[in-house]
Amino acid sequence: ELPFAESFKIKMVETIRKSTREEREKWLKEANYNLFNLKSDHVFIDLLTDSGTGAMSDKQWSELMLGDESYAGARSYYKMKDALKNILGFDHFLPTHQGRAAENVLFSVLVKEGDVVPGNSHFDTTKGHIEFRKAKAVDCTIDEAFDTLIDHPFKGNLDLVKLESVLSTYPKEQIPMIIVTVTCNTSGGQPVSMANMKAVKELADKYGIPVCFDSARFAENAYFIKLREEGYQDKTIKEIVKEMYTYADMATMSSKKDAIVNMGGFIAMRDENLWKQASTYNIMFEGYVTYGGMSGRDMNALAQGLDEGTEFETLETRIKQVEYLGEKLRSFGVPIQMPIGGHAIFVDAKKFLSHIPKEEYQAQTLGCELYLEAGIRGVEIGAILADRDPETRENRYPKLELLRLAIPRRTYTNNHMDVVAVALKNVWDRRMDIKHGLKIVDEAPIMRHFTVQLEKV
Ligand code: F0G
Repeated sequence: ELPFAESFKIKMVETIRKSTREEREKWLKEANYNLFNLKSDHVFIDLLTDSGTGAMSDKQWSELMLGDESYAGARSYYKMKDALKNILGFDHFLPTHQGRAAENVLFSVLVKEGDVVPGNSHFDTTKGHIEFRKAKAVDCTIDEAFDTLIDHPFKGNLDLVKLESVLSTYPKEQIPMIIVTVTCNTSGGQPVSMANMKAVKELADKYGIPVCFDSARFAENAYFIKLREEGYQDKTIKEIVKEMYTYADMATMSSKKDAIVNMGGFIAMRDENLWKQASTYNIMFEGYVTYGGMSGRDMNALAQGLDEGTEFETLETRIKQVEYLGEKLRSFGVPIQMPIGGHAIFVDAKKFLSHIPKEEYQAQTLGCELYLEAGIRGVEIGAILADRDPETRENRYPKLELLRLAIPRRTYTNNHMDVVAVALKNVWDRRMDIKHGLKIVDEAPIMRHFTVQLEKV
């Protein structure tokens, strides 16, 4: 059998540069040990995020030329509307400038003080928008997700017992929605099974509560269903996606991931009345209902990206690259979240730097060490991201302390992945020489992750 190769060839390239360790030490100190503060020119391989960092296809670039920039009723709006109808099956939608904007608009209608929003490890902006409204996000992810060694095919699943206990504890009026994040980013890019989506929807119907899919990586989720769930092997990704959304009443989407655009998002829903209510907020916060924060050309590229992003070959190329990096790391003995997820490798920093106390931010410390090693930028998914408890103001230490290496779509080659793997192995080999972690010297009251300032202990 022939070896696997990518389903694209490269038409345009961008230069990236290496740096010296001395340079990186200086830059990292100037960045207050917060990798978000680094200039991208000071990064060799940037695995901070797979959001908005992918390479658009030639067809997407062509679509930019066809964009209709009319303020109202643009052709581009209708192109996007058709794509959402055809691929996800929703009749109504509102464009927004990105995913968190979709959350802001939708939650402005639905979430109020005192509410409870169950879900599977809500993404940080999702949780931020819930907590900002003085409501509570309750994590109902299955316990297996919090042990990086357990090899469960659908670690993004919701625990139906945990979910039902929330649904039966609070009155319906206090639970505006259940959020199903596909794939579940925070727990490691882990998919939710079709059976679980179906069961969640049945439970939601029993209690009269709508289901919202946080859809950033819905296509990767569908890919895993095809590979791992009984009965889906012979279905196309588009067929699987269609079925997935029959279990949702509405969806928010950061299109910067699986729709492979640099900027954009949307809210999609079945209920026209909800669309009307959300339209008012969309006009206030985002833009008129037929563009909502997006240029016409970007809506075109998004529509094209949704189509390409739900093709098997696109997903296979992408996810095999993530696996390639993950398998290399495993062969070096580096502890990572298993099974390997869709968009990133999640390094278990608790195991990696077990000699550093959690109060010194193991994942952030590891992220800084990897940057110093080879100019590679990952992101902490740990205690800094988890923020303080809004009521007690105590630090929240999550069960998992991870360094995420997110892989942009169609951007780096496997040679880059080799460099990442060897660099991390080098850090692994010298881990006992890392004596101390970091401490926070300045932080924002909410979502401190992005702007936190740290120094070495
Ligand atoms: N939901 C999920 C599951 C996400 O991963 C993100 C963003 C959002 C919502 C918000 O979307 O960035 O377009 O406003 N995740 C990025 C990441 C930032 O790096 O994982 P956005």
